[in-house]
Amino acid sequence: MKAFIFDLDGVIVDTAKYHFIAWKRIGEKVGFQLSHEQNESLKGVSRVESLERILGWAEAKISSTEKEALLIEKNEDYLQQIDAMGREEILPGVIELLQFAQENNIPVALGSASKNATRILEKLNITSYFNAIVDGNHVTKSKPDPEVFLKGAALLNQAPKDCIVFEDAAAGIAAAKAAGMTTIGMGGADEVKTADHCFDTMALIKPEFIRSL
Ligand code: BG6
Ligand code: MG
Repeated sequence: MKAFIFDLDGVIVDTAKYHFIAWKRIGEKVGFQLSHEQNESLKGVSRVESLERILGWAEAKISSTEKEALLIEKNEDYLQQIDAMGREEILPGVIELLQFAQENNIPVALGSASKNATRILEKLNITSYFNAIVDGNHVTKSKPDPEVFLKGAALLNQAPKDCIVFEDAAAGIAAAKAAGMTTIGMGGADEVKTADHCFDTMALIKPEFIRSL
């Protein structure tokens, strides 16, 4: 049996809507209206890089001190929304797949760009399903660089080719492919169509499919 590496945002829980609300408010501070499409392109992108992109779209030039302040403000706003989230926001089929992994001794890692990953897993009460956690605090290079997934595979003592990555973002699929892993694109967006396999939700992934990999 192979190992699983799960992205967090958009795979385990739909936090993109909270990131969107928080980034929209930050955009407004520099006189910019962030569109839904622009927010989509920020999926899988680190917090710092997301701010840089927004400032680029806004053509806003601000000091590094002001950037620091905006990053803190964005995260405080985001965390306030995250803290109100409950287990009912876990996406369909996620718990079932985590349980399948546990019952079949398939090692599981988290491979996320988020620096809030452990807080979110705790909040959702699913930390115990993960044998390893690699998040935004443990990497120096963001997706599409494969670092986050290669670190996950190493912590699980698995060869990259034996890892199956669940991702909802173009940057994440590219990162997993660069790592030499099997990719499963979640959510059905055009951006993930380059994955080896695609599913709208995890509830559609059957044990027979996993066994066939
Ligand atoms: C990714 C999200 O998982 O994490 C991005 O898709 C987000 O939208 C990034 O910017 C960093 O998250 P955080 O929680 O560290 O701000
Ligand atoms: Mg994601």
